[in-house]
Amino acid sequence: MPGILILMGPQGAGKGTQAQLLGERMSLPIVATGDILREVARSDSDLGRAVKEIQSEGRLVPDEVLARIVQERTSQPDCRGGYILDGFPRTLPQAQLLEDVAKDQVQRLTAINIEVPREMLWRRLGGRRTCSRCGAVYNIYSKPSKIEGVCDLDGQPLFTRSDDNEESILRRLSLYDEKTRPLFDYYREAGRLFDVDGSGSPEEVFEQIAQLLGARERAVS
Ligand code: AP5
Repeated sequence: MPGILILMGPQGAGKGTQAQLLGERMSLPIVATGDILREVARSDSDLGRAVKEIQSEGRLVPDEVLARIVQERTSQPDCRGGYILDGFPRTLPQAQLLEDVAKDQVQRLTAINIEVPREMLWRRLGGRRTCSRCGAVYNIYSKPSKIEGVCDLDGQPLFTRSDDNEESILRRLSLYDEKTRPLFDYYREAGRLFDVDGSGSPEEVFEQIAQLLGARERAVS
């Protein structure tokens, strides 16, 4: 059983892209906290407005909000056979919460760290375009849509995320170094962290992850 797969890596490393490929090919649900929070941000509520501002500025949403979201979403029946976490955990309290969740759900944790040189991250984030309706993700350099600015799947306009601007990217990367990188030691010491080189094509990165997961499955069975 795959258990809980945590996709880690800096902004633009390709966590969302790999989550999509893994989800389709391993038939696992994806719990992407950034997407769930963008949905919350669209709601006409105090929480929605607060989340919208935090996300646009590239800051982190408080741990208590994430705890509620993750506990609720991962307790749904589709997560019983395992799931992919994209964007969670990002802080030590979130990692500790996840330990409890995994214990309660009797699921094994495996963390994949996707490493990409920083200059490449800027290009990926600067070139990202997202469909305003279905959320499909494109890139003007590496995965352009057939018609510029229009989604191939549903013909809707593509937009640039509000946090993919220079100031927010700098803040997100710096928060990543400060709050999220320390989790590597946490997972590495427990023998649960595996590194992959994220600088190749999406398929090449996927191959590395698939091989790692296959080897881990054989080692524990
Ligand atoms: P979130 O939505 O998770 O964004 P992020 O962490 O900033 O990560 P990104 O989506 O930017 O990067 P990615 O690695 O998924 O890259 P992608 O695959 O899209 O979070 C947004 C915000 O929500 C946070 O800033 C925070 O405010 C809040 N939040 C979320 N979770 C939280 C938490 N746990 N705690 C607190 N707050 C939280 O790829 C990027 C681009 O590169 C795309 O265009 C793609 O097509 C392209 N690309 C991908 N892979 C490749 C490749 N191999 N080769 C070429 N191009 C590629």
